[in-house]
Amino acid sequence: MNVLVVGGGGREAALAWKLAESAEVWVTNPGPGFPDARALPAGEISEQAQLAGIDLVVVGPEAPLVDGLVDRCQARGIPAFGPSAKAARLEASKGFAKDFMARHDIPTAGYGHFDGVAAAHAFVTGRCVVKADGLAAGKGVFMCPDEASARAAVNHVFDAGIGGGEVVIEEWLDGEELSVLALCDGERFVLLPAAQDHKRRFDGDRGPNTGGMGAYAPAPLGTPELLEQVGRDVIEPVLRGMAAEGAPFRGVLYAGLMVGSQGPKVLEFNVRFGDPECQPVLMLLDEPLAPILLACAEGRLEQTSLATRDGSTCCVVLVSDGYPGTYPKGRVITGLDAVHDDVITFQAGTRFEGEDIVTNGGRVLGVTAWGADIRVARDRAYKALETIHFDGAQHRTDIAGRALARLENT
Ligand code: AMP
Ligand code: GLY
Repeated sequence: MNVLVVGGGGREAALAWKLAESAEVWVTNPGPGFPDARALPAGEISEQAQLAGIDLVVVGPEAPLVDGLVDRCQARGIPAFGPSAKAARLEASKGFAKDFMARHDIPTAGYGHFDGVAAAHAFVTGRCVVKADGLAAGKGVFMCPDEASARAAVNHVFDAGIGGGEVVIEEWLDGEELSVLALCDGERFVLLPAAQDHKRRFDGDRGPNTGGMGAYAPAPLGTPELLEQVGRDVIEPVLRGMAAEGAPFRGVLYAGLMVGSQGPKVLEFNVRFGDPECQPVLMLLDEPLAPILLACAEGRLEQTSLATRDGSTCCVVLVSDGYPGTYPKGRVITGLDAVHDDVITFQAGTRFEGEDIVTNGGRVLGVTAWGADIRVARDRAYKALETIHFDGAQHRTDIAGRALARLENT
């Protein structure tokens, strides 16, 4: 089977690695992170995929999904794993997602959805979360401890024109976050091991939001009981609701949850694998991925669970100095050849420069390790990254800290 992976980050490197077990892998963004993949010629992706005889297109990032790449592939008769543009609105519009959850009784924070400053200001009474409606690359969410900061955030969203001129204002939820990812075929789903991401740049969850500084799986917070509840109260109603509204959901439904005293509530939906969550999650998967994604794309998912390895996985992201703000590129990376058992370094932002591999992004590498438990996995990842160097390399030192604290408390 010829499988095309669309995108060029750490998520796509992990997808290409896992898919290579069961398929010939092609990529749209060739580079050092995809050592064994074939490069799809440049051009419109669905057209090139057809010319290359691709049997399945797997779309990594949200932008091409929102832009209708899956619809274009299907129009050419090529199975594509990912939602249609219409179904991708669950991620592309926070207002749509909140109104959808309200229509289908899916647990989420109370909210208001506004297209003007005055009505938004009138809704604000104190501590809340202000969110720009559209895709904002992680820069559209403002945690507001009081009314004044909320009004300022509303003004900023409208003045700066972030996310298409609409705003969602939500109740601030307390609890612990959990990422639950489901592979969906439009009607049915299977859950991947639950993961926990570390979005803030610095240790102790301080500093600016990033795409993700590290992740681990399975997250102990995601007990079998909790996952069953999430399947029943979140994933199933989304699939039923989207089908009933004429936009059946195929692909990865990523529910970002806050688990608090009132049970899990949805913070956001993404319509793709999380990055870096994808890296530790796929390393735990103990069955071939290509046939599962093809079954989802063709609406014929039969299995109800996924085989996973015992143990835990942990991914620590190495970033360029300055990320998530501006950062240099072109720094030579050394130490990538060191081979460690049960460690894979997925490349997220790299390119070749002559013989060298150099940095080419904010998130550069995802050092991902398996271990018999989360402590071993964490220690292996941190040990492995000691041998990797580039000028200005930075990372968090507390990835998987919550899971370790739980382990110590039991
Ligand atoms: P989102 O992109 O909507 O997931 O928001 C980004 C981050 O903001 C989340 O991962 C949470 O840490 C935080 N967040 C978003 N909404 C809420 C909320 N209603 N209550 C508390 N924290 C939130
Ligand atoms: N790691 C969070 C995301 O992929 O959205």
